[in-house]
Amino acid sequence: IVARALYSSSASSPIKRVAVVGGGQMGAGIAQVSATFEHGVTLIDVNAEALERGQKYMAKSLARVAKKKFPAEPNVASDWVEAVLGRVRPTTSLSEGVRSADLVVEAVVENIGVKQKLFGDIAQAAPGHCLLASNTSSLPIGRIAEHLDAEAKARTLGLHFFNPVPQMKLVEVVRAEHTGAQAIESAVAFVESIGKAPAVCKDTPGFIVNRLLLPYMMEAIRLLERGAAEARDIDTAMKLGAGYPMGPFELCDYVGLDTLKFITDGWFKEGDGLRGDKAFAASPKLDELVAAGHLGVKSGRGFYDYS
Ligand code: CAA
Ligand code: NAD
Repeated sequence: IVARALYSSSASSPIKRVAVVGGGQMGAGIAQVSATFEHGVTLIDVNAEALERGQKYMAKSLARVAKKKFPAEPNVASDWVEAVLGRVRPTTSLSEGVRSADLVVEAVVENIGVKQKLFGDIAQAAPGHCLLASNTSSLPIGRIAEHLDAEAKARTLGLHFFNPVPQMKLVEVVRAEHTGAQAIESAVAFVESIGKAPAVCKDTPGFIVNRLLLPYMMEAIRLLERGAAEARDIDTAMKLGAGYPMGPFELCDYVGLDTLKFITDGWFKEGDGLRGDKAFAASPKLDELVAAGHLGVKSGRGFYDYS
């Protein structure tokens, strides 16, 4: 009863069933938060091992949340964790996973070809009323939806969550040129129903947060490359001198160095208004780490060693 009162989803959201495509760090977080607020969730990934990792991520994160919510009641806490996890159904079948969804949130690798193909498949398999959302960090929603018909395009938008999803309160609601007003209204109601704050914005590169954050992260890497200071000292400086919760290198490792490289390479090559912008030019240090498979926290090593 207590758990229901704390996490009962807003009656004003028409969205009840959510399908999340991609069971990595973001997809698992989005599935977790949706299930926490009583939505029925399917978590879809091409890779069964990724789904297992996603379930472990959710169990660990929910245990953290539950410990704070029910400090004196360990049994209530573990029942609550089980109940939330029980609302997330993992599957490797896209068509089956989206079949009865009111909202699909895509959170797969940051690659335009993969996302375009996926949106075609999702639009075919999902019900006609279903909202189609991408959690892309950097790709234009208009391009992701390029091959859809006008009716499906009107239901397509960006829902950009932040890492770690259970903790970060913001969701950018991205309105592409083709997105209908009804889709934005429903998406805003959904974001509020899961206890987050929406910020509505246009479909421009990086939306709001990443357009400001990425130049900062890349400039920190260039500071390191120029030998101005060690990574640890730059992190300490920004945490204690500028009040950031993480230093830039901790943040790069947290986001994932592959994701960071996908974003900046994409903008440098073809970002609307950003093509050739030296803020996003390739960094030898970043390239070297990604080529070596050092992708940050998720692979056990990035700028720092987490093993
Ligand atoms: N699940 C549940 N709760 C979590 C959590 C998780 N995965 N991670 C952290 N928390 C909670 C902790 O339980 C703790 O809660 P209380 O304060 O209520 O006790 C709180 O978050 C703080 O955690 P910690 O004490 O362990 O550590 P911290 O103080 O260093 O905070 C942090 C961790 C919240 C991640 C903080 O360091 C932070 O805000 N970092 C910056 C994160 C950020 O900038 N994210 C955006 C990245 S950019 C992006 O996501 C967009 C993109 O497209 C790339
Ligand atoms: P990740 O590498 O942790 O997870 C990606 C998952 O997608 C993997 O499990 C992979 O198996 C799966 N996948 C790949 N192709 C698929 C397909 N066709 N169908 C189903 N599953 C597929 O990546 P992530 O960090 O969770 O990022 C996912 C998306 O979210 C990207 O678009 C990224 O830009 C965006 N994003 C990332 C962050 C961040 O901080 N990492 C923050 C906000 C948004």
